Amino acid sequence: MVGQSWRLEVLADSERMVQRGIQLWQQWAIEAISERGFFSVALSGGGTPKVFYEALAGAELPWDKVYVFWGDERYVPADHPDSNYRMAKEALLDRVPIPDSNVFPMPTQAGNPQTDADAYAKTLQQVFNSPLPTIDCTLLGVGGDGHTASLFPGTEALDSEAAVTVGNKGGDPRITLTYPALNASKRVVFWIAGAGKADIVNKLLTKTVGLPAQGVNPDGDLIWICDRAAAAKLPLVGLS
Ligand code: 6PG
Repeated sequence: MVGQSWRLEVLADSERMVQRGIQLWQQWAIEAISERGFFSVALSGGGTPKVFYEALAGAELPWDKVYVFWGDERYVPADHPDSNYRMAKEALLDRVPIPDSNVFPMPTQAGNPQTDADAYAKTLQQVFNSPLPTIDCTLLGVGGDGHTASLFPGTEALDSEAAVTVGNKGGDPRITLTYPALNASKRVVFWIAGAGKADIVNKLLTKTVGLPAQGVNPDGDLIWICDRAAAAKLPLVGLS
């Protein structure tokens, strides 16, 4: 691991994981806002983070100074059941006083994923005033195949030097941040829960297997936050 620091946090269960996540966001928000006036987060999609987003809706955060981005998006309309934006909107954004101008969904309406990917890269460049986004907290999940965001094994997205590119999940287009963008983050948090992830967590943390999630080595901090079920096959945790 390159970056500033690396750590693994294992919490007993989902509830404790969520409370830890809220505590960290509150701490990081204070730091970020005092440094540059806003706290930027990139949300991951899928099912795991939903309970976290729902809990964040009840947390004390300076929402008027929180900027929300996404790490990846399915190439569907914003109101589609598969949309990562829709999931976060329903679980969190509709339930907190965050200005619409602070929310930056990945566009999916140009009818051409590359056009939308390029547009998002421009948005990030404008907000961060830099070719790559130095996001304060980039949340990521992992799939059983070791993908993260929409960086899937064996796809061209893994080699992109742009900040945002078109991902490919079995032929379905995605919009995704790339390694250069993810690795520019001030911190990346892998947020992983459930026994179904125990094998991939063990593989990613104990073996060099060249899977996409292992390509995430941010300039900032790399933090793995798991519940005990997802960490159960790690050597030390498995003994506890
Ligand atoms: C997506 C995600 C993806 C997700 C993993 C894990 O758009 O689906 O960004 O990378 O984080 O596939 O998904 P689960 O949390 O549903 O297991």
